[in-house]
Amino acid sequence: MSVRWFSIIVAMDEKRGIGKEGTLPWHLPGDLKHFKTLTTTTDDPKKQNALIMGRKTWDSIPEKFRPLPDRLNVVLSKNKTQSMAQDMISARSFEEAFAALETPEQKDLVDKIFVIGGAQIFKIALASPSCEALYLTHIQSTYACDTFFPDFESQYESVESSTEFDENGTRYFFSLYKRHRF
Ligand SMILES: NC(=O)c1ccc[n+]([C@@H]2O[C@H](COP(=O)([O-])OP(=O)(O)OC[C@H]3O[C@@H](n4cnc5c(N)ncnc54)[C@H](OP(=O)(O)O)[C@@H]3O)[C@@H](O)[C@H]2O)c1
Repeated sequence: MSVRWFSIIVAMDEKRGIGKEGTLPWHLPGDLKHFKTLTTTTDDPKKQNALIMGRKTWDSIPEKFRPLPDRLNVVLSKNKTQSMAQDMISARSFEEAFAALETPEQKDLVDKIFVIGGAQIFKIALASPSCEALYLTHIQSTYACDTFFPDFESQYESVESSTEFDENGTRYFFSLYKRHRF
């Protein structure tokens, strides 16, 4: 089944580490603000963006902050077939998540689609030809991560990078990658 175009958004360290013990290994408010702005801003003011995430990433968001506001939260789980909270959608497969965005109720309300993690979902998303862009935060440090983003450089190239930011001695920059078109 083909799915609609979507982007990935992820923050990673120098070894592509993205998580540790079910949470983020760093605290970078500037990056969280960037995530919020990018994923909330729509081209059409009457629509909202959709976020697709794995159940473990959903669990990593403190209850009081989820679902992430002003965005349609779609959570992938093979086990939890019922909605895990109000105002979110649960799906049993990547294809089902996209199908849920194509229903008559959602179709005209969804603007952009972002896959926001974690590693299991990134792996499926990267393998999809519909994944057109990666919004990466490159954190210029190495953390003791147990969860990693897949190798992506053979398929995607950096087309744009920000200047460098420094938050309490942690340096990072944003980079947009696009899929190679051969
Ligand atoms: N740095 C970043 O940008 C970033 C972003 C997001 C997350 N993270 C970090 O990444 C870690 C979590 O990543 P993770 O890889 O362990 O977990 P995850 O990808 O967030 O979630 C995995 C869960 O998703 C469900 N799932 C996986 N494949 C599925 C499929 N094909 N169909 C339906 N459901 C499926 C399963 O849920 P069930 O077990 O319920 O079946 C599985 O246990 C945390 O440390 C988090 O903080 C980092």
